[in-house]
Order: sequence, then C-alpha cells, then structure tokens
Amino acid sequence: MTQDELKQAVAREAIRYVVEDSIVGVGTGSTANCFIDELAKIKNRIDGAVASSQATADRLKSHGIRVVDLNSVNELPVYIDGADEITEHLAMIKGGGGALTREKIVAAVAQKFVCIADESKLVGVLGKFPLPVEVIPMARSHVGRALLGLGGQPELRQNFTTDNGNLILDVYGLSILKPLELEAELNNITGVVTNGLFARRGADILLLGTAAGVKTMKRK
Ligand code: 5RP
Repeated sequence: MTQDELKQAVAREAIRYVVEDSIVGVGTGSTANCFIDELAKIKNRIDGAVASSQATADRLKSHGIRVVDLNSVNELPVYIDGADEITEHLAMIKGGGGALTREKIVAAVAQKFVCIADESKLVGVLGKFPLPVEVIPMARSHVGRALLGLGGQPELRQNFTTDNGNLILDVYGLSILKPLELEAELNNITGVVTNGLFARRGADILLLGTAAGVKTMKRK
C-alpha cells in the first residue's frame, strides 16, 4: 500500500469515532484532508465542524460542511488530526503544517483526541522531525537564543506566516526523552506562543495505517 492509501484507510476508520448530531473537531494536513473528504460523505449526520486552520476551514466549506467558531461550542466530543511523529504513549510532534497553536486549542477543548497516521509516523523517541515553535515576530531572536541554550538548532521557516500572524522556528537536533517537561519549558520562554509537543494533551487513540491494516492503539 502507498502512504496515501494508508492515510485514506485511517481516515475511513476515523469516521467510526464521529458522534452523530454533534460538532467535530478537524485537524490540518494531508491526513486530515483525507478525513475531511470522508466526513463529506456523512455531512448530513453531523451538526458541523470546528477547523484547526484556515486551510481546513476552506476545505470543509468546499464540501458544504458547516464551519463553526470554537467559542460558540459547548461540547466537542472528538477531535481528529494527524501528527508528524507519535510515540506508543501517544505523545506527538505536530505543526509540520504550521497550524500547531489552533490544533492545540481545539485538542484542549475536545473530550477525545483521535490521531490518524500512517506507520512512518510512529517513533521510539520524538525529535527527528524538527520541532515547530510558534513565535511572536519581535521575539524571534530572543527565542532563538533560548532554544540554542536548550541544545536545539532553530531555523526560521522561510516565507511562512501562521494563521495567527506569527513565525515558526523549526528546532533540529533535539532528542526528546521527557516530552512533558520540554513542552512546559518551551512554553515558558517569553515570546513563544506555543510549541509542537503534544504531551500534556496527547492523543487518546491512535489509528495507525500499516500494510497489515489499521491498528488501534490506546493511551497507556
Ligand atoms: C499540521 C500538523 C499535521 O497534523 C502534521 O503536520 C501531519 O501532517 P500530514 O498528515 O500531512 O503528514 O500538525 O500543523
């Protein structure tokens, strides 16, 4: 199976977690896009969706799915999104598409986070994928120095502005053995909006696309 076929397989499986007559939280990226395309097939059975990025909102709308402001939602039973890396404990690196802050906000509201990923995303230790950090523009150099001090090599993502009008520093060279601690430490650097470690609020369920079929893993 190709990587795209694995993404489509997990997207199909994720539909089973959608709660009828409710609002669905929808992530960002190519795997989330596969999910949106599946969601379109059952759009009459949901009330609408909360989007974690402008790109996702646009794709949902193009399918005729109602997009709802998160502030108007009391309950969000499930959030479905991809990841750049995920461990067996369901801690993740996210933000390859630059939507990490809104993704983290929607994930914080959701009762259940279902991560959909092909098997290339499952890792023993997080950090081979450069860790995205969203930064207020005037704090770019300050945050860069702090990241160097933590042993990372930050690189400014070129020609990129987040949906929130900020910059992304991609941090190379980290071997993240304590994701919970690092997530908190990075968020404490003044000027950091958020970072792409999703450990404090990791996924609850991982649907992993493998050549042998979709494997379901639950948070330990
Ligand atoms: C976007 C994300 C995505 O979930 C992550 O980059 C995975 O994307 P893809 O499904 O295209 O591999 O965090 O900010």
